[in-house]
Amino acid sequence: MDVLVVGGGGREHAIAWRLAQSPRVSRVYVAPGNAGTSSDDGLFNVQLSGTDDLIAFAKRESISMTVVGPEAPLCDGIVDAFRAEGLRIFGPAKAAAQLENSKDFAKNFMARHGIQTSAYRTFDEPMAAHDYIRERGAPIVVKADGLAAGKGVVVAQSEEQAHAAVDMMLVDNGMGTAGARVVIEDFLEGEEASFIVMVDGEHVLPLASSQDHKRLLDDDKGPNTGGMGAYSPAPVLTPALHARAMREIIRPVVAGMAESGTPYTGFLYAGLMISPEGVPKVLEFNCRMGDPEAQPIMLRLKSDLYSLLDHALNGTLDQVEAEWDRRVALGVVMAAGGYPSNPRKGDEITGLPIGGEDHHVFHAGTARDDDKVVTSGGRVLCVTALGDTVRVAQRRAYEIAGRIHFDGSQMRSDIGFQAINARKSTL
Ligand code: GLY
Repeated sequence: MDVLVVGGGGREHAIAWRLAQSPRVSRVYVAPGNAGTSSDDGLFNVQLSGTDDLIAFAKRESISMTVVGPEAPLCDGIVDAFRAEGLRIFGPAKAAAQLENSKDFAKNFMARHGIQTSAYRTFDEPMAAHDYIRERGAPIVVKADGLAAGKGVVVAQSEEQAHAAVDMMLVDNGMGTAGARVVIEDFLEGEEASFIVMVDGEHVLPLASSQDHKRLLDDDKGPNTGGMGAYSPAPVLTPALHARAMREIIRPVVAGMAESGTPYTGFLYAGLMISPEGVPKVLEFNCRMGDPEAQPIMLRLKSDLYSLLDHALNGTLDQVEAEWDRRVALGVVMAAGGYPSNPRKGDEITGLPIGGEDHHVFHAGTARDDDKVVTSGGRVLCVTALGDTVRVAQRRAYEIAGRIHFDGSQMRSDIGFQAINARKSTL
């Protein structure tokens, strides 16, 4: 079978790499892919622009299934377009992708279905938004309603910051149409975790838990990024909390979407805040896998990913379980100089290792320039390694990352610190 993965980041590299291990898969095409997906065995980049080209390619090459990585094409309706042509594609239809495409939709949905999340209100008029900020006080969170490429959330520590965020979005149009409406919500205390599942419209297959590091600098300092590293499993998601998140969040979402006539299919990512009392509350939904969470999750997946996706597309996810490497996987993101505001491009990358059993360097913002690999985006690589403990996986990932060079590279030195601290606190 030949399959198609849409996207060109680290998440798509990880999905494509794992799909290529399936005995049922001959070729994995990645559109547009990156330098990593142009060199791994069984992966082939294809330069296609737009849904029509992707559909024509899928028909011409008799693609058996298409998997969509990023949110933008899902929110634009790529799944609806493929289905209308009778093509098999894994992801949510446009109506279901609203869970990510509109923060207001997601909040209303959670309120209707009794899913725990922070108190909020939605505004498209700045004066009322400013009044609400004064009423609630800081810290407080201002979110652009629409997709903003990871830049639409301002966690304001002061009322001044929150007022400035409202003015940037509603008055100065700084986020374009995505910020023409804002959701203002209470700040939640606790520890974040990423809970990602596969959904076939009715049944749910949970993936391994994970945790992301969104800030640029060590100790969770500096600006927000798309994610500077991740590891799996996340110790904060104990078996009891896992069961609770399934019961109180994931199952009500899947049932509620089906009842509304917009059944959810695809990866569903619940960004959770686990309160100090151990209550899971929803920070956000994403209609896709996480990046960089997908990289450690895919490194740990032992089941045949093609087979799991096939079950998802056939509506039989209740008949399978996913098998995981019992080891910890930890991924360290190497980002370009200037990331996140103004990443450099075109720097040569040297020291990339040949793949191994217990690690993989997943590419994101990389491109080929003759026989060289060069940087081409903000997050460049995610160096991901397995280890018997978080510390071992961490040491291994940093050893490999330490041998890779490109001018201006930035990485955190503490990926996995929460898991290490959690382990210490139980000793
Ligand atoms: N790592 C955060 C996200 O994928 O949204």
